[in-house]
Amino acid sequence: MHDTYYVVAHFHYVLSLGAVFMIFGGIYYWFPKMTGRIIPERIGILHFWISFIGANVLFFPMHFLGLAGMPRRYADYPDALSDWNRIASFGAYFFFAGLFVFLFGVWRAFQSRVQAADNPWGAGATTLEWTLPSPPPFHQFETLPRIADTEH
Ligand code: HEM
Repeated sequence: MHDTYYVVAHFHYVLSLGAVFMIFGGIYYWFPKMTGRIIPERIGILHFWISFIGANVLFFPMHFLGLAGMPRRYADYPDALSDWNRIASFGAYFFFAGLFVFLFGVWRAFQSRVQAADNPWGAGATTLEWTLPSPPPFHQFETLPRIADTEH
């Protein structure tokens, strides 16, 4: 499988479904803390599913292309491989469309002017930033904060 699209499929799963999804997770998580506004949950869920389906439709067929012997780093391929390539392209367009859903969510967050709570995530968000207002004031923790023991 060396130097075929199987490799491209594999590393995009790591880089896109691994890293990019985590980056978006981080953006959704800290957006309210950074801006004082919150991206509506429904829009986030919609963005997630479009991205998840899109990325899988995009990258999963690359395994089949690799198994069929399509080499990586070529701009062209035999017609016999066009079906999976076309499906992968549809996945890419779908994934891309999801980015507009995300941008719409950011726009909605600012436009609706709903003030984000200090901690919109509840009991699971135990780190110190969630004890501060959203967005945090310029000066914080003028006295040393007490760290509660969350184990008990
Ligand atoms: C919609 C998202 C993406 C699409 C459609 C896409 C598509 C592609 C395609 C078609 C190739 C060329 C494969 C070849 O000819 O061998 C490629 C290579 C590559 N992509 Fe992506 N990719 C996406 C996202 C990403 C992301 C998020 C990363 C990194 C975080 C990434 C990193 C790479 C790397 C490192 C290569 C290899 C370049 C090389 O062979 O020198 N890609 N990608």
